[in-house]
Amino acid sequence: MSTIGGLYKQADWKSEKHVPVIDCPSQTGADGVVEVKLCVGKEIAHPNTTEHHIRWIRLYFQPQGGPAPYEVASLEFNAHGESAGGANAGPAYTQHQGSVSLKLSQPGTLIATSYCNIHGLWESSKEIKAG
Ligand code: FE2
Repeated sequence: MSTIGGLYKQADWKSEKHVPVIDCPSQTGADGVVEVKLCVGKEIAHPNTTEHHIRWIRLYFQPQGGPAPYEVASLEFNAHGESAGGANAGPAYTQHQGSVSLKLSQPGTLIATSYCNIHGLWESSKEIKAG
């Protein structure tokens, strides 16, 4: 039996990037707050067209030793040049990036997932200390 977890890819290709980038310090501030920037294709841009784009990035927090991850945020990218005039003729393209302000009281792992409408599900993770 296959699982959804087995469909997430972590290794990327040379010509196009899909793995979500988690950009934040490895430790929160003294108040437990950390600003987490999320994007896809930091070094090599991913296409953003009606036919091929990033739909969403989600962020989870897995507390160290905890039984289950918490969903922290969901960034939806809903405009990709669609219009009544046809594909890529629209005025708006949501950029596949954003930031989340998060307060933590325990150390653990940030896990980001992303979805490309052509190339599927991707994931990455980063350890973080609290306080
Ligand atoms: Fe893609």
